[in-house]
Amino acid sequence: MKKILNVIKWSLVALVAALVAGITFTIGWRPFVGPRARPLTARRFAPTSERLARGTYLVEHVTPCMECHSPHKWGEHDAPIESQLLGAGQEIPVKGLPGRVVAPNISPDPETGAANWTDDQLARAIREGIGHDGRALFPLMPYQRYRSMSDEDVASIIVYLRSLPPVRRQQPATQVIFPVRYLMRTVPEPLPAPVPAPDLSTPEKRGAYLVTIGACGECHTPQDDHGQPIRGMEFAGGFVFDGPWGRVASANLTPDPSGIPYYDVALFKEVLRTGYVKARRVNQIMPWHAFGGMTDDDIAAVFTHLTTLKPVVHRVTNDEGVPPTFCRICRQRHGYGDRN
Ligand code: HEC
Ligand code: HEC
Repeated sequence: MKKILNVIKWSLVALVAALVAGITFTIGWRPFVGPRARPLTARRFAPTSERLARGTYLVEHVTPCMECHSPHKWGEHDAPIESQLLGAGQEIPVKGLPGRVVAPNISPDPETGAANWTDDQLARAIREGIGHDGRALFPLMPYQRYRSMSDEDVASIIVYLRSLPPVRRQQPATQVIFPVRYLMRTVPEPLPAPVPAPDLSTPEKRGAYLVTIGACGECHTPQDDHGQPIRGMEFAGGFVFDGPWGRVASANLTPDPSGIPYYDVALFKEVLRTGYVKARRVNQIMPWHAFGGMTDDDIAAVFTHLTTLKPVVHRVTNDEGVPPTFCRICRQRHGYGDRN
């Protein structure tokens, strides 16, 4: 009897040890103990007119915050924001998300918005993925891209947000399903040091910065089943967006023949300013209506960066009459999927 008890005891110890090692070397302990987060500071961003101007430009035309944080008339080609609801938040209407994902009200309303969140709470949410209440944000909020945003740019964005008219609109809370709810706690990472102003001295460098904080790669890189970008397929398109705008796959933006090798800067500018590639309409889920307000120089810089991307072979189309078919490269169903 004692022998049997001993065997049970040691088996249990072994089992627990295996479990501990298993968790340590696979998903880690973050899902159980909560996300990595740094303590908040009391820093305040002085609302200068330079910051207001820079923040307005960034939010309206570069880092398309309001695409997600405002309800849109998705039926229209330029998807205008519902009147008087700038910054009021919306439940993200993309089909197939793991639960209800709500972009919160970030207008400065004291009860339903961000008026009482401190500057550092906002800065930490934007670049490090920790909500004002300390929880890990679902990474559809592109904080992994915004991480590269300079301290001055994030300050400018916050100054702009605080200048908006407050909108009273209570949004429901995000409710992500198990086990994603736990796994997503591994994503946020505190910034170890201040982020200096980026080197914008050449069009290549400026374009790289704009493309990062413009989150182009977020939509133009296909993801695996765990919501992680597929390695080697950066900017190769095929990410499917199904919602009130229709069902479209993002385009391959690389210079490969299956991408956009025929683009020049004039055509690129026309696409962002008009929402048309010659006669072909670009779907409204592509925020051309926001990016189109970038300066000529910034549009040219973004285009320069696109021409330096690694070419990736990946045929994708949304042309009418081309049914979505399974694509073995990105594992989604999109037009020309069967040609890959
Ligand atoms: C692609 C959609 C998307 C874009 C673009 C986006 N957000 Fe978000 N944001 C979200 C979602 C969704 C959440 C909520 C995630 C959750 O609840 O887990 C969120 C959360 C936040 C929060 C946290 C609120 C809190 O509870 O503390 C802030 C602040 C925020 N976003 C600001 C911004 C700003 C500023 C920008 C632009 C620089 C931006 N977001 C761009 C989707 C987006
Ligand atoms: C919210 C997701 C999203 C973001 C962010 C986004 N795109 Fe797109 N983009 C799309 C989708 C989806 C399409 C396909 C639209 C269609 O075919 O109607 C597209 C199409 C395009 C096209 C047209 C390609 C063609 O078919 O000729 C260009 C160019 C483009 N995007 C560039 C960019 C750039 C540059 C950025 C960043 C500054 C960006 N996109 C950010 C989703 C996005």
